[in-house]
Amino acid sequence: MLKLLRKHHTNQIIHLVINGARVKKQITLPSLALGCWPLAGMTRVGVTRQAAIETVAAAIDHGITHLDTAYCYGENGESEKAIAQAIKGRQNEVTIASKCGIHWQAGKKQAVDGQPDTIIREVKESLVRLQLDKIDLLYLHTPDPNIPIQESAGALRRLLDEGIVRAVGLSNGNVEECQLFAEICPLTACQRHFNMLQQEIRPVLLPYCQSKQIAMVAYWPLMKGLLTGRMKRDQIFSHTDSRHKYLMFQGEEFQKNLDFVNAIQSLAAQQNMSLVSLVLAWTMAQKGITTVLFGATSAKQVATNAQALACHLDDSTIFAINEAIQQRGPILGSRKV
Ligand SMILES: NC(=O)c1ccc[n+]([C@@H]2O[C@H](COP(=O)([O-])OP(=O)(O)OC[C@H]3O[C@@H](n4cnc5c(N)ncnc54)[C@H](OP(=O)(O)O)[C@@H]3O)[C@@H](O)[C@H]2O)c1
Repeated sequence: MLKLLRKHHTNQIIHLVINGARVKKQITLPSLALGCWPLAGMTRVGVTRQAAIETVAAAIDHGITHLDTAYCYGENGESEKAIAQAIKGRQNEVTIASKCGIHWQAGKKQAVDGQPDTIIREVKESLVRLQLDKIDLLYLHTPDPNIPIQESAGALRRLLDEGIVRAVGLSNGNVEECQLFAEICPLTACQRHFNMLQQEIRPVLLPYCQSKQIAMVAYWPLMKGLLTGRMKRDQIFSHTDSRHKYLMFQGEEFQKNLDFVNAIQSLAAQQNMSLVSLVLAWTMAQKGITTVLFGATSAKQVATNAQALACHLDDSTIFAINEAIQQRGPILGSRKV
């Protein structure tokens, strides 16, 4: 069995224990991880393979050695393939997390398939794409509503027992699904969206994970770029940029979110730090959040975001941010957790 033992706040270390014995190589996971979805180039046009490789390399150079990808990041695993190229000769420096159970069908339609045979096949393909013989952390990408989650968990358990994966996680699951999953397969991490304006996991899932020592890896910390301050009031997304589909980027809701960004922007200025640093530092400081998983499309963005590792927010700044969040109020289109 593999489980989370201890966390440090900024440069957090996760000690892994397999079958009750401490493994020789401890895995160090910094509080920040690089999300490699935008690098697949499916929703952000203009992300070349070279830019993807440079982005990953910059992350490693800045100590962001936890790289998060998935079987479906790219119609043909472009994200995993870019990671393989970027980590050549540096495999020992990184912790690779991938996911299985979602693939693309013709017409760029996503399909969920958590059947055991599919999971085993996808993981074998991921290993080839990544040019690795093991995946450090493998998540079921999302529970498949068409089959009992225990069946999917059984396949991940098999991969764990065979040593093909070192730890297992559940992405986009709720507490009940985590419980059913953990009856079959030890659960090391959960992955859900979490940011200043989307905190649905706070009341139930987060305390559950804390109580079970399951790591919480938070995605969308930058609200898909909205909390970086670079979006304009009259922002127009290209039709290939999937962000236009989300309510947070539409109409009055978008304008209210930009008002919120203005409010926290002035707090960042008072602290003499960038908005991105303030946002990431706040997210890292939230109790129960183990890792903050941001996406980036360039080495420059990674360098900016890495500065958050050195930022500390005092209590009065955290209080002021929380006030601004309260003032913004609940946002539309929250996903059920
Ligand atoms: N488990 C799941 O189901 C699931 C779902 C979603 C995401 N994830 C994971 O979580 C990761 C993070 O999510 P995300 O990438 O969608 O959202 P995010 O981290 O909230 O936002 C990432 C976007 O913010 C912009 N950005 C980042 N740093 C910036 C900077 N310094 N200055 C200006 N803009 C900056 C970039 O936009 P541009 O692209 O416009 O440059 C980037 O693509 C993903 O990559 C993926 O690994 C998991």
